[in-house]
Amino acid sequence: MIPIGSSPSQPMMAVTPATRVLAIETSCDETAAAVVEGGRWVVSSVVATQFERHERFGGVVPEIASRAHLELINDVVADALRDANLRLRDIGVIAATQGPGLAGALLVGVSAAKALALATSRPYHGVHHHEAHLYAAMLADPTLEPPFVTLIVSGGHTLLVAMDDHGRYRVLGRTVDDAAGEAYDKVARLLGLGYPGGPILDQLAGTGNPEAIRFTRPMLDPREPDNLDFSFSGLKTAVVLHRRKHPDQPIADVAAAFQDCVVDVLTTKLLRAARRERLGTIVLGGGVAANSALRARVVAEAERASLRCVVPDRSLCTDNAAMVGAAAWHRLRFEPPTGLAGGAVPNLALPGTT
Ligand code: KG4
Ligand code: ZN
Repeated sequence: MIPIGSSPSQPMMAVTPATRVLAIETSCDETAAAVVEGGRWVVSSVVATQFERHERFGGVVPEIASRAHLELINDVVADALRDANLRLRDIGVIAATQGPGLAGALLVGVSAAKALALATSRPYHGVHHHEAHLYAAMLADPTLEPPFVTLIVSGGHTLLVAMDDHGRYRVLGRTVDDAAGEAYDKVARLLGLGYPGGPILDQLAGTGNPEAIRFTRPMLDPREPDNLDFSFSGLKTAVVLHRRKHPDQPIADVAAAFQDCVVDVLTTKLLRAARRERLGTIVLGGGVAANSALRARVVAEAERASLRCVVPDRSLCTDNAAMVGAAAWHRLRFEPPTGLAGGAVPNLALPGTT
């Protein structure tokens, strides 16, 4: 039972294990909607990718992304409800990613969610995209509870976060330049692999020899074990210089060596963070967490260090709305909904961060 208050901007409410969230995600180039129950159970999840619309430009074109979200959003929401075998009246909360992301793209999802909330007199709640990536692990393993260390690696961000409790985060490290996904996409473009770069490079790397080249591991100086920040822009330059010097080297080897370097840095810092913070659980999230080498390495290292490890299914790592529904449900246990006054915020900071 969800008591809905009188103010549309901040109705009082209490989520229960039976509360269903209809969530929308449009922060970049995926139009997604999902129904999540009790913050842990995916009832339905629909993702419409815009890949073909951006492919010939070699990357995401913000204007095209916003337009595509507008075209797709109604059908995607309808599909999520149909797959869940539910009507709008069965939904308790409407949530959407409010930031960070592309301004025009975010606006479509936020506006659609608010319109649905108004039409149904349900509360609207805006969700932080990284918090959503973090909560994907709770859908993957419904028994997972903080504290743990999580590595969020996406196209826009590389963050090492200690989650002390629900809604309480400490950022332990972040990239000082390019995000890991951005590095994948840029290197894929340099190697002429096309878009989307990450998954294509991942596949090609699987056929190459990672030991053919040894790229210097950026910011992994053993004399600075407490430095948990990342840098990937120099690595991208190193790949360019190497290609110029050795144009005949198979690109599969270059891809494999690049990937080996990125995975080595990410995994080493994640394990270092767990050790330093004395936390026994490590978690992966974000689009780059779909990378086959990263997943395998993190699982292997966790086993060696006797750490519990949660690596969500690939479909929960790349952008989706189920994670948004999970994050919304958990935050609404201790906070009122953001309400209709909360807009799209392209550079939104992670809430509850110290
Ligand atoms: O989280 P996400 O779907 O969107 C953002 O929030 O940015 O992450 C997208 C990023 C892109 O840079 C994409 O190339 C990368 O994740 N990615 C991968 C793989 N799948 C997606 N990177 C490496 N290997 C993959 N298999
Ligand atoms: Zn994302």
